[in-house]
Amino acid sequence: MISPKTVWITGASTGIGAELVRSYTRMGCRVAASARSADKLHALEAGGAGSVHPYPVDVTDAAAIMDTVAAIEADLGPIDLAVLNAGAYTPTPVKDFTAEVVKATMDVNVLGVSNALAALMPRMVERRSGHLALMSSVAGYRGLPMAAAYSASKAAVIAMGQSLKAELDGLGVKIQVICPGFVKTPLTAQNEFPMPYLMEVEDAAQRIVEGLKSDSFEIAFPKRFAWQLKTMQRLPDGVFFPLIKKATGH
Ligand SMILES: NC(=O)c1ccc[n+]([C@@H]2O[C@H](COP(=O)([O-])OP(=O)(O)OC[C@H]3O[C@@H](n4cnc5c(N)ncnc54)[C@H](OP(=O)(O)O)[C@@H]3O)[C@@H](O)[C@H]2O)c1
Repeated sequence: MISPKTVWITGASTGIGAELVRSYTRMGCRVAASARSADKLHALEAGGAGSVHPYPVDVTDAAAIMDTVAAIEADLGPIDLAVLNAGAYTPTPVKDFTAEVVKATMDVNVLGVSNALAALMPRMVERRSGHLALMSSVAGYRGLPMAAAYSASKAAVIAMGQSLKAELDGLGVKIQVICPGFVKTPLTAQNEFPMPYLMEVEDAAQRIVEGLKSDSFEIAFPKRFAWQLKTMQRLPDGVFFPLIKKATGH
């Protein structure tokens, strides 16, 4: 497949997003990089012949996202690929469960994605071309212990992608969801538990780039961990709950 020319990556200031900026610039793309931290976006360097263009924005601000998409397309041309990757994770054990934490998580992980879709999808549909990649997680397959807000938000992203896919297929726009396992980034640095199959961010970005070239709707990795969680998704509750308790202690 030919590399996309113009790529928009949200959550590009650190972690997976910043690594994707490096990957796509190595492939010669013009990459529009968004996050709230303008300083970090300006410090990003192209990994190769491509170029990086910072567009600081808060994905929870629907009007600002509309303006950002318009500005990127005016400056760099039509967005061929958007990786809607901005995300937030706050553990939610029962003792720390608040509606504010759930709202803050949903605002970034779900509404952040839908704000971007609302801004960009009509443009892609009109052009009958474009590629949308929504960042979810294997944590969206089943409600995981201590992660009520995060699991719920990532399940919502998978469902959103699934709902849109059939229609977008007929409109010439490709949509995929990305479901990584644990990746070593600032987001997971707060986890105090041992993270199975923890991956380096370079490895994760490589798998995402490869997955986005494929026709699979869902890009899930590492394979063994994703398969285990997928299997858990299909288990009856009476089997799943004791199993997850054994695996996590909760
Ligand atoms: N690491 C993992 O194990 C893992 C596994 C599965 C899925 N994921 C998902 O992968 C994505 C990237 O996570 P990561 O691990 O790379 O974490 P990260 O390094 O913490 O990156 C999160 C990115 O999102 C941006 N962001 C957060 N809130 C934002 C907002 N309101 N508006 C705009 N940008 C915002 C952050 O930048 P600013 O703070 O500068 O805004 C940052 O660039 C997330 O959606 C995460 O849920 C991660």
